[in-house]
Amino acid sequence: MGEAPCIGIVGAFGGDEGKGKVVDVLAQNAGCVVRCEGGANAGHTIRLEDLTFVGHLLPSGAAAGTLCAIARGVRVDPTQLLQEVSTYTAPGAGGKSRSLSLLVDDGAALSLSWHQRLEMYFERVKEKQVRGTGSTRRGMGPIAATAALRLNPRVGHLTRPEELRQWLDDFYEAFQPQLAASGNSVTPTMLADELAALGHRLAPYIGDVRARVEQIWRDGKSVVLEGAQGMVLDPYWGTYPYTTQGMCTFAGLLQGCGLPVSALTDRIGVCKAIATRVGNGPFPSELGDPALLADEPKVVDADLDAFAREMLAKINAGHASDQELGHYLRVRADEYGATTGRHRRTGWLDGAWLEYFAAVNDPTELALTKLDCLRGLRELKVVTAYELDGRHLPPGTVPALASDFARVRPVYQTLPGWSEDISDVTRFDALPAEARAYIELVEEIANCPIRWIGTGPFREQLIVQPRN
Ligand code: IMP
Repeated sequence: MGEAPCIGIVGAFGGDEGKGKVVDVLAQNAGCVVRCEGGANAGHTIRLEDLTFVGHLLPSGAAAGTLCAIARGVRVDPTQLLQEVSTYTAPGAGGKSRSLSLLVDDGAALSLSWHQRLEMYFERVKEKQVRGTGSTRRGMGPIAATAALRLNPRVGHLTRPEELRQWLDDFYEAFQPQLAASGNSVTPTMLADELAALGHRLAPYIGDVRARVEQIWRDGKSVVLEGAQGMVLDPYWGTYPYTTQGMCTFAGLLQGCGLPVSALTDRIGVCKAIATRVGNGPFPSELGDPALLADEPKVVDADLDAFAREMLAKINAGHASDQELGHYLRVRADEYGATTGRHRRTGWLDGAWLEYFAAVNDPTELALTKLDCLRGLRELKVVTAYELDGRHLPPGTVPALASDFARVRPVYQTLPGWSEDISDVTRFDALPAEARAYIELVEEIANCPIRWIGTGPFREQLIVQPRN
C-alpha cells in the first residue's frame, strides 16, 4: 500500500486538549483531513480568514481548504451538519462565498432527534447510580445502542426515503415507550418528511469516504486522521461509565475510517498543560470540588487582568484554596465547554494517566498545549504515580471500576514555575529553563518526545521541534 504519511491525532486526557491547532498545521500539506469518531458532542473552534465559529461535525482542519471527510465512525446529525456547512460557505466580509470540499460516509450512523429524547430517558435512569455521565445530550450512547441492535438507519438512507421510512417505523416500534416517557411528540411520518428534505440538501456530499481516502493516500498525499474527545472518555479504556461512545484511541481512528492499521505512520497524542474534564467522573488531580462549579461566577474580559494579578499573588503566597487555584486556571486557560458552555473541571497535568495513555496508544510524539497558561505560578505540580489503598499502582495501569478510580490518590512531583512571557517564543531552547524542565519531566514520564508546544491561543503560537 501507499507510502505517504498517515497521521493520527488523539486527545490524551478528557478531550478539549486543543487538537485543532496541530491539525491546522498538518492540514496545510495534506490531501485530506478525516474526522473519524464521535459526533455532535464534540466542539472545536474553526478559524477561517474572516470567520471563527464552533464546529461540531466538520473536521477542525476544515479551515485549511483540503478535502474534509466525515468517516463511518462518526454519528451524523444532518441538521447540525447542514448548519455548519451553511455557516462555512456563507459569503464572508468581502462578499465572496467559500467553497467547502466535503464528503460524508454513506455508512455512518444517522443521529435522529429521537436519540436525544432517549438520552434524556437513560440519563435519568443512570442518575440513581452514578449521577449521570454528564452527557452533552447529543444522543451518542443511544445512537451506538440502536446501531448495535441493528435498528439505526445510516446516512445513505437519507437519499432513499422509502427505505428510510421502514427503518424509522421499526425504530419507533422498538422505543415507543421510552420516547413517550421523555415527552417525544415526533411521529415517524413527521421525521421521515423532515429527513427527506435534509437528505435532498446533503445528497451531493454523501459517498464512500474509505475508498476516497485510500485513493488519496495511494496517490502519495498525506492523510490526517482527527480523533474526537480524549482517552479518559474512551468507552473501553476511559473511566467507564463516565465516558462517551466513540473510541478515542489511535486504533479507534482506523476503525472509524477504514484504513488498514499498517497505514498509520505518525501517532500524535495531545496533552494539555492543565488537565480538564467536563461532565462527571474520576479526576485524581482535580483542584477543588466540582459541585461548587455551577455557582462560580464567570470573569468578564474587562476584569481578567485584575483577577489574574490578585489570584496569582494569593496563590504564590500560599493562601489560595484548591478551589481558587482551579478557578484561576479555568479563567486563565478559558476552560469553558465549546458545546455546552459548562465550566470545565481543572487540575494539574496527570503524568500517571499519560503513562497509561502511552501504554495503550504508543504515540510517536506528543503535543503539549496551553503551556503559556502556567506562567507566573511559583510552583507547578505533575502527577507521577497513583496510589490506591496505600499502595502505588503499577506504572501504566489504572483501575477498571469507577468506584476504585474515585479513591485513587495522586502522587505529585513539584517543580519551580517561570515568570517570563513565552507567547512569542518560537524555539524550545529559547524557553525559560523551568519550562524546559517541566517539558522534559513530561517527556520522561510518557517516554515520548514532545514535538509540539502551544504557547498561546493563535495558530502561529506553536513551537514545532524538528524530528530527531
Ligand atoms: P456524551 O458523549 O455527550 O454522551 O458525553 C459523555 C461524557 O463525555 C460527558 O462527561 C461529556 O461531558 C463528555 N464529552 C463528550 N464530548 C466531549 C468533548 O468534546 N470534550 C470534552 N468532553 C466531552
